[in-house]
Amino acid sequence: MKRLDQVLASEGVPAELELVIDHVMIACKDIAYKLGQGELAGILGATEDENIQGETQKMLDVISNDLLKDILCDNPYVKGVGSEEEDYTIAGNPNGKYLVTFDPLDGSSNIDVNLSVGTIFSILEAPADDRTGDDQGVFLQTGRKQVAAGYVLYGPSALLVMTTGKGVNLFTLDRNVGEFVLTKSGIQIPEDTAEFAINMSNQRFWEPEMKQYIDDCLLGEEGPLGKRYNMRWVASMVAEVHRILIRGGIFMYPYDKRDPSKAGKLRLMYEGNPMSMIVEQAGGASSTGRMDIMDVQPKGIHDRVPVVLGSKNEVAKVVAYHKS
Ligand code: AHG
Ligand code: MN
Ligand code: MN
Ligand code: MN
Repeated sequence: MKRLDQVLASEGVPAELELVIDHVMIACKDIAYKLGQGELAGILGATEDENIQGETQKMLDVISNDLLKDILCDNPYVKGVGSEEEDYTIAGNPNGKYLVTFDPLDGSSNIDVNLSVGTIFSILEAPADDRTGDDQGVFLQTGRKQVAAGYVLYGPSALLVMTTGKGVNLFTLDRNVGEFVLTKSGIQIPEDTAEFAINMSNQRFWEPEMKQYIDDCLLGEEGPLGKRYNMRWVASMVAEVHRILIRGGIFMYPYDKRDPSKAGKLRLMYEGNPMSMIVEQAGGASSTGRMDIMDVQPKGIHDRVPVVLGSKNEVAKVVAYHKS
């Protein structure tokens, strides 16, 4: 079985970028080990601190964040990093070629109940200007500019799914040798689905168009969508996206009138964009409901974005509801 470095070399990934990805993997392998220790390592539970999102940080949010931040800010090719758990972007090497944004632990409300969590990462090229990596301005590029994106899903097995723009590959962590090995290449999302993922308890906060689409799904065969829909909600975007990559589906965290930016809960730079690059590279679609997520121009490192992603024909239906 091919190792990750062999696959990246075969995709023509420059050695500097390969080293950045390798350092993300070193951190993720350590996160996987610590997650496996759980209570034995006394690292479950919450801290007393709140992140800039207004969420109480779990101990593993902070531990995972520090592992990624420390190794990447010490990488000669990383100009700076942005993280869900850091208020501002952090400078790495002023001459670094790459910028990395990450969600160190996605789905962290699952951690204390031993359910799936993940790490999401996105890599951009640093503009050749003299600004440093702690000036978030250098990060504010659309998702189309990403040179690589991926996630690690810490489930029964630890899986890496990533793309460098040449399709989507799946790697499984071989714990005996501590390497991610290629176990599926060229993943393609089924174009149609009858399975939606949304947090139904937020229904009263959605726009009418989203409410109408879900109401029509629930009408099943007799409704305008003409088929019986199933529902899933894992409360971990990485787990939802992985299920969709493997068997199709549509995942939505839509516009939410509670949020001041009205854009819902998910963050563009380290959730929306990396997952959109993966989904589009796997033949799926990813929209705010009104435009492709990867065309959204970020104004800040923690911008939120409404998310509708998955099987392309189902995403097209939801977009059509927003046009009507
Ligand atoms: P994070 O744990 O990184 O803050 O992200 C959690 C996100 C996403 O993973 C998941 O789809 C969504 O929050 C779940 O939201 P609810 O808890 O509102 O269902
Ligand atoms: Mn969080
Ligand atoms: Mn997240
Ligand atoms: Mn997170």
